[in-house]
Amino acid sequence: MRLLVCGGAGFIGSTFVRLRLQEQGDEVMVLDKLTYAGREENFHEFSEDPGFRFMRGAIEDREAVAAAIEASAPDAIVNFAAETHVDRSIAEPDAFVTTHALGTYVLLEAARENDLRYVQVSTDEVYGSIDVGTFTEESPLRPSSPYSATKTGADLLVESYFHTYGLPASICRGSNNYGPYQYPEKLIPLMILNALHGDALPVYGDGMQVRNWIHATDFARAIGHVLEHGAPGEVYNAGGPDEEANMVVVRRIVELTGAQESQIEHVTDRPGHDRRYSLSSEKVRALGWAPRKRFEEGLAETVAWYRENAWWWEPIRSGEYRKYYERQYGRSLQP
Ligand code: NAD
Ligand code: DAU
Repeated sequence: MRLLVCGGAGFIGSTFVRLRLQEQGDEVMVLDKLTYAGREENFHEFSEDPGFRFMRGAIEDREAVAAAIEASAPDAIVNFAAETHVDRSIAEPDAFVTTHALGTYVLLEAARENDLRYVQVSTDEVYGSIDVGTFTEESPLRPSSPYSATKTGADLLVESYFHTYGLPASICRGSNNYGPYQYPEKLIPLMILNALHGDALPVYGDGMQVRNWIHATDFARAIGHVLEHGAPGEVYNAGGPDEEANMVVVRRIVELTGAQESQIEHVTDRPGHDRRYSLSSEKVRALGWAPRKRFEEGLAETVAWYRENAWWWEPIRSGEYRKYYERQYGRSLQP
């Protein structure tokens, strides 16, 4: 296929691009604004692939989107582009509204004008928190944060373009991803790097919140299944095989890095913090997808990747991220 992948310079987008180039032989054009989270370093395993091209631009910019479509003549748009950190959405929601609402709208219009298949990458956070049981695609939408509320708005816009204009659009909602190339504002890479540097490990509240972990390669393959085999107008959940409480994850990272349990600190909880996420993936499994990586093995590999790839994270940890960290956690990182 020829794909236009928006947000392909981020963590999951770049994983998806790598797999599509290397496993499917697709041609891929990435359109990405390169926010703090989007990095050309994320292309390093495929930047020389003849099927790969990159344009810098924002999805809310009609001209940039039109130029990317003209240059790549895609069969489909797959949209990963988003502001993705819940804590940042609580502190400064502006970019979340622009990218998720306006950006998704501009892409949908472009897909409609050019008769393109469209896949929206979404999140289990649109369903809100669930203490017992598991969310299906039929569960009500009850987002809690500005991040998840604006992602929900984007999903509803996508569904409206199917119902109103017959746009062949599908949505794939993932649970918490982890793996190489994840920006260290998120729980797992933040804890790994802090553990390795002797920094405090800041656990929000009691740390008994539960997340449903999926390796980014598994989520990327689920999105590929939805793209190729999913029905227009349908939503598909893709959850990981394992649920863990945050404290269990942090303690395991302490063991894997050789850090000290005394580095763990309970800090002020996130406002409106969702207690538990859990997704049923029966519908995408019926398309032939299944997750391949268990969390225990994937977490150990992820710790090893961060240990071995300081070239990737050193520029982040010595740059603007330090200021973000001070604002968010009220303390400095070790040099
Ligand atoms: P990320 O923050 O690593 O990457 C986001 C990418 O989008 C970056 O490359 C950034 O530069 C780009 N971007 C942001 N705003 C843009 C704009 N206006 N125009 C063009 N590009 C823009 O995020 P990620 O973790 O890879 O998440 C990718 C997608 O998957 C998002 O839609 C997210 O909501 C969804 N998702 C993430 C997770 C997770 O656990 N990380 C789970 C489920 C779903
Ligand atoms: O569920 C899918 C979602 O997963 C995605 O849609 C989001 O883009 C992605 O960021 C992620 O959201 P979470 O809020 O679950 O991820 P985060 O890594 O920020 O936090 C995971 C859990 O760890 C959550 O309960 C909050 C907690 N946490 C997080 C950080 C950064 C801490 O206890 N301390 C921390 O410093």
